[in-house]
Amino acid sequence: DGAGSASDSAFSFVEVEAGVDETHHVAEGYDAEVLLRWGDPLFADSPEFDPTNQTAEAQRRQFGYNNDYVGFIPLDGSSEHGLLVVNHEYTNEHLMFPGIVSVAEGKLKVAPADKARVDIEMAAHGGTVVEIRKVAGTWQVVREGKLNRRITATTPMQITGPAAGSERLKTAEDATGTRVIGTLNNCAGGVTPWGTYVMAEENFHGYFLGTLPEGNKEAANYKRYGVPEASYEWGNVYDRFDLAKEPNEPNRFGWIVEVDVNDPNSVPKKRTALGRFKHEGAESIVAKDGRVVFYLGDDERFDYVYKFVTSGTFNPNDRAANMDLLDSGTLYVAKFDADGALEWLPLVFGQGSLTAANGFDSQADVLIETRRAADLLGATKMDRPEDVQPNGVNGKVYVMLTNNTRRKDDQVDAANPRAKNAFGHIIEIAEADGDFAATNGRWEVLLKCGDPSVAAVGATFSTDTTRNGWFGMPDNCAVDSAGRLWVSTDGNNPKDTGRTDGLWAVDTEGGARATSKLFFRVPVGAEMCGPLFTPDDRTAFVAVQHPGDGGTDWAPFGRPSYYEDLSTRWPDFKDDMPVRPAVVVITKKDGGTIGS
Ligand code: FEO
Ligand code: CA
Ligand code: CA
Ligand code: CA
Repeated sequence: DGAGSASDSAFSFVEVEAGVDETHHVAEGYDAEVLLRWGDPLFADSPEFDPTNQTAEAQRRQFGYNNDYVGFIPLDGSSEHGLLVVNHEYTNEHLMFPGIVSVAEGKLKVAPADKARVDIEMAAHGGTVVEIRKVAGTWQVVREGKLNRRITATTPMQITGPAAGSERLKTAEDATGTRVIGTLNNCAGGVTPWGTYVMAEENFHGYFLGTLPEGNKEAANYKRYGVPEASYEWGNVYDRFDLAKEPNEPNRFGWIVEVDVNDPNSVPKKRTALGRFKHEGAESIVAKDGRVVFYLGDDERFDYVYKFVTSGTFNPNDRAANMDLLDSGTLYVAKFDADGALEWLPLVFGQGSLTAANGFDSQADVLIETRRAADLLGATKMDRPEDVQPNGVNGKVYVMLTNNTRRKDDQVDAANPRAKNAFGHIIEIAEADGDFAATNGRWEVLLKCGDPSVAAVGATFSTDTTRNGWFGMPDNCAVDSAGRLWVSTDGNNPKDTGRTDGLWAVDTEGGARATSKLFFRVPVGAEMCGPLFTPDDRTAFVAVQHPGDGGTDWAPFGRPSYYEDLSTRWPDFKDDMPVRPAVVVITKKDGGTIGS
């Protein structure tokens, strides 16, 4: 009847009960097995994880911390054999290292870091490329995989594209402005149509400390990005993270990094054409004319949604021909008009206000200060843009806007319709003529998130959505090969919402539109990252990030009490093992497609 009937839903699984406890839960009829945990060996010669004897050398051969983005690159077209690529966004020292935590006046205190600890933290960042294979129905890590690789905060990288070689990227270590050591805070990401792995550098500001030299011309630039924040102590050990000693180093982070996974010795490339901001992800799709479109979010309150359209076209028959597509193209920022029109505004030096009169002397300047350029063009200030996902089946694009409790009544607009937006929303974009490369389109709000039983929240889940099915704080998302939307969340605090984060299946079509069902939920204190489906939709990967975090009552070895007396030691549940972020692999017991 088209009037919001649950029977129209594209999903037929029986949903999980929302709630909070020490472990993960998946819908009945499915298996959810831990595949890779922090510290797990990735190579034939990797040492086993020993939490009481951690070294940077061991960590460089083991799975890193805080798995976020998960991608799957099939080998020989298989959905049961491929490369798993995983970002390691950041480290939680208080959950990683025994003996460094104390509680004073009800507050968690972490002992200062020495060089050995900083080196482990740096080795636990970055990404993992690892061969995996389904053997007799069970997914396994192939430690002998010749393409297995760890990328860390010390992996040498190249800077390419229009900003490469800029004076503003030059440092004492790199007089060319084209070589950088490492990648930081890789949140979400993507896999390109030509099978490379892209990593998004998000909250890079937190790694810098110190004060810029008096009169340094980067002061306003850094202020716009929140540099420095000094969340980490690396600058006490390595000069390049100290603004007083290396004032240009922060300009070398906040980029999209591309990794050629077919060569474990390839030098990752920071692709400056895609702009510099707190990159959440980089999901892509091939447009009608063969150009490739990357959708990009800048995760900060009142920042923007972007897309990048390559100049060249994708060649499906010649992988090598695509390897530098990300060095030339047009970066656009989104303006969401009140009448439902969407305009993509080009960030091109010399056009509009992006000129010397406003302090831009080149495209390099526009890209290094992408946010200021977008400010000048009048882009729409959004409620923290996270993952932006094109859907090749229905031709739409889905924008996760996680929340923004700082939006005031007089800052509300059509695309960000709630003041003090605690639960976030999802926007659906339809590009003009169904062309992902179009410079305009239409948009509408698919879903305002939060508890629909609390009228003041203003949530817009369909009435068929049960008390388990609603969520707040959409963050990552995926579209499966049937074109169905899956949303994972960050920040559903059990104290406020009675539920942990998880993975929800969200209908976008027909009468079931805006109906949501809970498929998987995480242990207490964790955030839900990933998700990712194999091409045959028979396997889903999800990343459980920072399990057990957020507590106030700490024992020295990661037994946090997050929620009243609830604690966890997920996934090992052993007294001598800390909580460990891990990738979980989900399959249907009868071998069928996920969510069917
Ligand atoms: Fe790392 Fe915006 O989440
Ligand atoms: Ca995220
Ligand atoms: Ca995604
Ligand atoms: Ca987040």
